[in-house]
Amino acid sequence: MSNYKIAVIGGDGIGPEVTNEALKAVRAAGVSFEATDFELGAKHYVTTGEVLSDETLESLKKFDAILLGAIGPAIGSKEVPPGILERGLLLKLRFALDLYINLRPFSGTKSSLSNGNQLYVVRENTEGPYAGEGGQLRPGTPFEVATQGSVNTYHGVARCIRFAFELARDTERKHLTLVHKTNVLVYAGSLWERIFEETSKEFTDVETSYSHVDAATIYLVNDPSRFDVIVTDNLFGDILTDLAGAVYGGIGLAASANLNPVKTGPSLFEPVHGAAHDIAGQKKANPLGAIRSAAMMLKHLGESEAAKRVEEAVLSVSDQIDSRAWSTTEIGDAVAERV
Ligand code: IPM
Ligand code: MN
Repeated sequence: MSNYKIAVIGGDGIGPEVTNEALKAVRAAGVSFEATDFELGAKHYVTTGEVLSDETLESLKKFDAILLGAIGPAIGSKEVPPGILERGLLLKLRFALDLYINLRPFSGTKSSLSNGNQLYVVRENTEGPYAGEGGQLRPGTPFEVATQGSVNTYHGVARCIRFAFELARDTERKHLTLVHKTNVLVYAGSLWERIFEETSKEFTDVETSYSHVDAATIYLVNDPSRFDVIVTDNLFGDILTDLAGAVYGGIGLAASANLNPVKTGPSLFEPVHGAAHDIAGQKKANPLGAIRSAAMMLKHLGESEAAKRVEEAVLSVSDQIDSRAWSTTEIGDAVAERV
């Protein structure tokens, strides 16, 4: 069996705690790996001034996968202005490693609003409003102008939609919904819509539908089982997956894979939740999102059987715990035992 080289960015707040539990589960699954810690994040930035150097980026490229806990300063922190770490670290990694898919799976649990169905959100991860197009004129004056564009390329949209069709073809229901706002964002919407139509002709076994993003938020709360796989743009995907996290058993359980599906470099796996500084160091964090992200990492590395065992252990533990009463390590141990 391979000895995988895994770069671990524990990061800030509860990040390192939940990442430890994720690695515990990988170990319990019998997959051998060598973990290398990278000190990155708000604390590292404040002490050293480094957000992500070219040198660190180059060394990350040599790993088989990157496991990330959470990045970000405490809310209201004056030392790290908004955008520095988001754009300089997390988005830089997504762009530089061409992690063009952000895959977020959600499963119904006993405590969730969903009826036990499975949902995948395929979020485009390198374009849209995240591309950083725009600028300011005359900032700080009454005549200030701010623009923030959305970048949508044929190439970027096509590869994302193709990934989603391939995924939908493998689900039980084989159903794919495009979520956008084609009635208002007409230029980007038309591109997404045309490519969606075009690609659907190659996947005749996949049933398709379309939903405007505002309506999709209602459906997600009232009747999430109408969805199977959703494909959507970067910002809509960001918002919808926080909502889906809340609907499907809480954000503590939500996992994500930032994928480079063609494997020209490592992919990055992280829970959807943030650094939660308010509960850091108190063993109160729910590590299930991080552990489930590690299961996605195993799957991407080709360890499907181990991935399945970790994923099933997470879901079985999530049905049993009240995460407020169990400590981070107790939950992690329970998962490792079941693996
Ligand atoms: C996420 C996060 C990030 C995003 C932030 C931290 C830049 O919210 O992964 O969903 O907006 O993509
Ligand atoms: Mn988000």
